Amino acid sequence: MSELAILGGKPTRIEPYPEWPVHDERDIEALARVIQSGRWGGYPYPGPETEKFLTRFVDLQGGGYPVACANGTVTMEVALRASGIGWGDEVIVPAYTFQATAAAPMAAGAVPVIVDIDPDTYCISPPAIETAITERTRAIIPVHLGAQMADMDAIMAIAEKYDLVVVEDCAHAHGAKWNGLGAGTIGHFGSFSLQSSKILTAGEGGVLLCRTPELAAKAASVIDCGRSHALGGGPEGGDDFSMGSNYRMTELQAALANVGLDRFPEQARQREQMLSYLEESLSEIPGVRLLKPDSRHTVRSFYRFIFAVKPDQFGAEHDLVCAALDAEGIPCWVGYEAMHNYELFQPKLSKLPVPTVYPQYFDFEKMLLPEASRACEHEAVWLDECVFRAGPQGVDDAIAALKKIQANSHQLVAAFQATRQA
Ligand SMILES: Cc1ncc(COP(=O)(O)O)c(C=O)c1O
Repeated sequence: MSELAILGGKPTRIEPYPEWPVHDERDIEALARVIQSGRWGGYPYPGPETEKFLTRFVDLQGGGYPVACANGTVTMEVALRASGIGWGDEVIVPAYTFQATAAAPMAAGAVPVIVDIDPDTYCISPPAIETAITERTRAIIPVHLGAQMADMDAIMAIAEKYDLVVVEDCAHAHGAKWNGLGAGTIGHFGSFSLQSSKILTAGEGGVLLCRTPELAAKAASVIDCGRSHALGGGPEGGDDFSMGSNYRMTELQAALANVGLDRFPEQARQREQMLSYLEESLSEIPGVRLLKPDSRHTVRSFYRFIFAVKPDQFGAEHDLVCAALDAEGIPCWVGYEAMHNYELFQPKLSKLPVPTVYPQYFDFEKMLLPEASRACEHEAVWLDECVFRAGPQGVDDAIAALKKIQANSHQLVAAFQATRQA
């Protein structure tokens, strides 16, 4: 019998990793308090729990004018709509991200233009952004993916040169800093998700950090059914509605987020403490490639840790490695599908009311985005954040499992080929 757990051997780790989301009596008390207050929803915006949460969240990120939202998808749509971006405009997004990053521009009426990533970081490639700019380009949405941050210096320089709005997708980057500046405070907007897998969660929810009070007032109007909002917060009253939706966060969510914020610094510290330990150990495994740390990424608070296997040296592709790691008791994932493979984002196939003649760069069937394809189809392994909250033993187990899989990769590949032939 093989040593590998996926082939019937004994798993490397039996003890479960720490659960997520973390919860205790404080969450129950916070919810009970809001329930007893009678003010459950998000109207009138903002409620007291929401206001308290937003003030504390701005402290965590170190700036911005915040708007609480229903999730971390509408945050990006709201940012674009508050900037007057919509029908026929183009928004540049990376090929390696969750679909929300490209779906949000479509919800605002704009066309997502999908570009390749930098293989060193798996974040959007600044040269690829510049190549994709046309006279219709209005915004860029860089994603701080996994435990990385996009090169915000290069992106902001491009944005300034072409007068573009930058919406940082920070769904993975609560607490992270670039050159001492909080993720989401460098561009014109920072979009955060509080969905249940995220490192600060309220089950669902989102925060949009805006660069100016004017943008925040516009964004508050968009999320609050088009009610007019004053600079500095609060509805102005009256019947003068603009185009908006109900994208408010509820007070129940804000109460949970407030308790989450109490726990956040210690959890982030635990993850960051184990990060260099893991990186050192991983760098000793031949066939594993670490994404490049960047000295400008000054606080590495993160969602998942992504590394690459080199299939020709490791002996197996990432999907087999992930399946085998999971069986060894190490929670991990192969990551997202490359975005240019989604029919949804191909204007020719979707029902977007945009011009009927598409420039060549929209023809994703012909488009090659080699770096995103390599990451998504062959290389990337996403280690769950709980591995980092289990102390050195948690990391040691992940490394031991990976070494075991590499040493036995020939069996893994042979077993996989046998199932395919059967
Ligand atoms: C990179 C990225 N952007 C946006 C989102 C959307 O956030 P939400 O689920 O809160 O809408 C997510 C995750 O869900 C994400 O991972």
